[in-house]
Amino acid sequence: MEFVVGVTGATGTIYAVKLLEVLQENSEVHTHLIMSEWAKNNLAVETAYSWDYVQGLADVVYDNSNLGAKTSSGSYLTHGMVVVPCSMKTLSSIAGGFCDNLISRTADVMLKEGRKLVLCPRETPLSAIHLENMLKLSRLGVRMVPPMPAFYNAPRTIDDLINHQVMKILDQFGISYAKGKRWHG
Ligand SMILES: Cc1cc2nc3c(=O)[nH]c(=O)nc-3n(C[C@H](O)[C@H](O)[C@H](O)COP(=O)(O)O)c2cc1C
Repeated sequence: MEFVVGVTGATGTIYAVKLLEVLQENSEVHTHLIMSEWAKNNLAVETAYSWDYVQGLADVVYDNSNLGAKTSSGSYLTHGMVVVPCSMKTLSSIAGGFCDNLISRTADVMLKEGRKLVLCPRETPLSAIHLENMLKLSRLGVRMVPPMPAFYNAPRTIDDLINHQVMKILDQFGISYAKGKRWHG
């Protein structure tokens, strides 16, 4: 599976780090990582992980300004893309088909080719502009999986909350993740 991971400058880069760690262990998944400059900034602000460490988790890494990269073309076959976390700026760019960088261009490719696109939009409170952008994309089949913690599975640590979000993302791609705690009634 060719899996594109876009990471943008909303708070919560740790979700992307954990997702990449999980996918690195999966021999059936080949990851393509694109991280915006503000995502790199937030990685440094919010976590103890270095950009070098995160790059090392992916199979291929592209510069977000490189609009000539493979994933920029629909002729390069991928199975889908997740943008986690997804800033309101990138959400807007995808909803408007603006394609100003490799993340939004690759998301545009997913839309035009009818491939799986999962966004983890993060902002609070949400304005009508944010909500309209999400609704527009949702109507086009984009899966909105915002990082919203669940408490029905009795999380004890921040890691539990992160694992739950990672599980919800992987569920969209039919990839199982044993560390996510599900509700069993
Ligand atoms: C510490 C920090 C936290 C931020 N959190 C958010 C957020 O949760 N949601 C959001 O939409 N923007 C957030 N921003 C603003 C984005 O980083 C900014 O809009 C940026 O232009 C996004 O660009 P990108 O989508 O190319 O990464 C945050 C910025 C900083 C510095």
